[in-house]
Amino acid sequence: MAYVVRLEPMGLEMDVEEGETVLQAAFRQGIMLMHGCKEGQCSSCKSLLVEGDIDLMRYSTFALPDYEREQDYILLCRTKAYSDLTIELLNYDEEILQFAVPVKTFSGRVESIQKLTADIRLLTVQLGDGEDLRFFAGQYLDIAVPRFGVSRSYSLASTPQHPRELEFVIKVYPGGAFSGLLENTLHPGDVLTLTGPYGICCRRTNDAPAVLVGGGSGMAPLLSILRDLVENQIDRPVKFFYGARQPGDLFYAQEIAELGAHFTDFEFIPALSHLASGEEWQGETGFIHEVVSRRLERIPNGSDRDAYVCGPPPLIDAVVPVLHTKGIDGERIYFDKFFASSSLESPIQTKE
Ligand SMILES: Cc1cc2nc3c(=O)[nH]c(=O)nc-3n(C[C@H](O)[C@H](O)[C@H](O)COP(=O)(O)OP(=O)(O)OC[C@H]3O[C@@H](n4cnc5c(N)ncnc54)[C@H](O)[C@@H]3O)c2cc1C
Ligand code: FES
Repeated sequence: MAYVVRLEPMGLEMDVEEGETVLQAAFRQGIMLMHGCKEGQCSSCKSLLVEGDIDLMRYSTFALPDYEREQDYILLCRTKAYSDLTIELLNYDEEILQFAVPVKTFSGRVESIQKLTADIRLLTVQLGDGEDLRFFAGQYLDIAVPRFGVSRSYSLASTPQHPRELEFVIKVYPGGAFSGLLENTLHPGDVLTLTGPYGICCRRTNDAPAVLVGGGSGMAPLLSILRDLVENQIDRPVKFFYGARQPGDLFYAQEIAELGAHFTDFEFIPALSHLASGEEWQGETGFIHEVVSRRLERIPNGSDRDAYVCGPPPLIDAVVPVLHTKGIDGERIYFDKFFASSSLESPIQTKE
């Protein structure tokens, strides 16, 4: 049984099959709706139900409080259709809606796991013959390790020009259900299942100057965007802010310098937040939002400039308001928050 879902204000129509959520149906049909956690916790996919019968799966009342539910707001990642629906999208990005790629599942094998810093690893994955992944620089995949029944989201650090050799930059958390496997458990040849592409923090096709801001493993999508600009011989002003704790947490400095040499106007601004007293360091210090505040010049509101921000939610929450004060329009600030799944699974108030 399939129903028709009409998405307003664009009047875009798609079908939704029995058993899938509206968000899953959109992904399947290459319609990239706004999303974050994909599990009813973050409210990124909140929309208004204009017409039709639905059922909502378990969600957090932080994401959708009761008073909003009473006013017919819904979470698309939790919504199942029981009739044709009309839905008003509250947030959408027309460019992404148009050029999204249908989400698919791929089989791959671990090619290598390399140590980049004390707690950051480069995971290289080889997809099978004929399993070319189409994506846009900056997007992410859900990677599952079938043997351990664990799945997590990871941004691609590689570019669309390499559809079968995929790279991921992953921070290892002690005891992390997925990242912990990179220490000694996963080995070359091990089977992975990868689903995607997801995400809206992908490189836009205009000529606007770009501001990249990230920290820790937030390097991955920014590196993909930077590599993609170079591989496509696109020259535009780029300012790249990157936050780490200590000198030993910086990586890829050499590659970034080489990539930067392809641009007429490029600046890489690494900053350290936990420099030990007496330690040698010529660059910026402090949290990355403070450094952006100090070093990014203000432009008149509405001027052309794109900002891509990647990393854990507190980094994004701190950086986005600073970018606003620098005159960058909200709809030109693109980010995918690196939610920790375990925090999503923590016992917050939920509604069946
Ligand atoms: C859209 C998206 C893109 C992402 N891209 C990347 C990426 O490119 N690289 C990357 O390394 N991660 C990325 N993540 C985060 C990733 O999906 C996992 O959440 C992370 O690797 C931890 O998973 P785990 O199974 O190892 O740890 P879990 O078993 O889930 O957690 C173990 C413990 O580690 C700690 N922990 C886990 N995650 C965090 C966190 N983010 N901040 C603070 N403490 C934490 C907590 O104490 C937690 O209890 C992304 C997440 C999202 C939603
Ligand atoms: S994507 Fe739907 S609530 Fe997070």
